[in-house]
Amino acid sequence: MKVEFLQLYNFRNYNQLTISFHSHLNLIYGKNGSGKTNLVEAIYVLGLTRSFRLVGDKTLIKDDTSMCKIMGRIVDKYSTDYQILLNKEGKKVQINHDKVAKISDYISKIPIVLFHPDDLRFIKDTPSTRRKNVNISISELDLSYLRYLNDYNKLLKQRNSYLKQMIVNGNTSSNYLDVLTDKLIDYGMNIHLKRKEFLDLINEYIGCFYEKITGVSGLKLKYISSYNDLSKEKLKDLYSKMLVKDINFGKTHVGIHMDDLKFSLNDQDLKDYGSEGQQKNAIIAYKFSELEIFKKMKGNYPILILDDLFSELDLEKVQNILKLLKEEVQTFITTTDVTKFSFLESFSYKQIHIQNGKVVEESEHERRK
Ligand SMILES: Nc1ncnc2c1ncn2[C@@H]1O[C@H](COP(=O)(O)OP(=O)(O)OP(=O)(O)O)[C@@H](O)[C@H]1O
Ligand SMILES: [Mg+2]
Repeated sequence: MKVEFLQLYNFRNYNQLTISFHSHLNLIYGKNGSGKTNLVEAIYVLGLTRSFRLVGDKTLIKDDTSMCKIMGRIVDKYSTDYQILLNKEGKKVQINHDKVAKISDYISKIPIVLFHPDDLRFIKDTPSTRRKNVNISISELDLSYLRYLNDYNKLLKQRNSYLKQMIVNGNTSSNYLDVLTDKLIDYGMNIHLKRKEFLDLINEYIGCFYEKITGVSGLKLKYISSYNDLSKEKLKDLYSKMLVKDINFGKTHVGIHMDDLKFSLNDQDLKDYGSEGQQKNAIIAYKFSELEIFKKMKGNYPILILDDLFSELDLEKVQNILKLLKEEVQTFITTTDVTKFSFLESFSYKQIHIQNGKVVEESEHERRK
């Protein structure tokens, strides 16, 4: 899947822009604040209708204007035109110039794997951030996953509010709670299975990618869940054991909403022991694993965006990561320091120079044989 060209109108610091991209590698460079991240963000928004930056849609609209538009042609087996228009009332999307009424019918048509400096939070932050990251990854592969997750969360809310009611009424047991718990276990087991399948797949690749980048073997992404290896009967026992605590706190202490993940390098937790560089390389190994899983399950590669990935990595790691790039994967790299990439002779690529929301120079480079 490739972006052939992109057109922006009043997007962030871009006034008007039409740009075509290289089918393999695009190196976007310029000073801090010039608009590099904004450009790759536009590709991301075109695919997913929202930004990866934790901001409201309105910030995407250029200051002092009232609407923005992103258009792009995506080439896969066929060529398809996508368009997203944002204004103060909301967003409208089109595919091949036809309006698409439901946003959910639009998203997930353009799969994108993105690295952004904030992704380090995947390791450093709380379990909920890690769950969120994995939820996004799985839902891009499996649309039904998000539905399961919504159903589970609704049920969890119901169970928690019923627990609070029980404390008020002085109940310690209830058939209705048993029904809710039973259902929660069923939904939870479903989600647990999907997470486990996904993480098993990640673990088929992640160690190998990490080793190719760093020379060190033994990276795994461990799945920590109270549901691991438990049958439904055993899970019911676990909920019974927790019942008094659940009632006292008015909340459910067991379930896939408490799941966590651990990046473990030869049994050391990277969260506590890993250097910044090691953490970054672990995340990038995860992203490259995601690309392969997509290819395996969907038959084609997503678009790869590496925003500011290389800023703190030593030259050897940069070179090792670039060696992982495949010609079938259209890749966008942003950097302030283009000299780091002076050894790109083995690639065909396009270099795009950005200044103040404008492309000031574009040049194509042929691979040196
Ligand atoms: N809605 C908006 N309207 C106008 N300008 C905006 C808007 N949102 C962001 N900007 C401007 O865009 C610029 C930031 O662009 P961007 O994040 O793409 O920079 P960058 O080239 O990636 O920089 P860095 O190297 O620091 O990551 C800032 O100057 C910011 O003020
Ligand atoms: Mg940036």
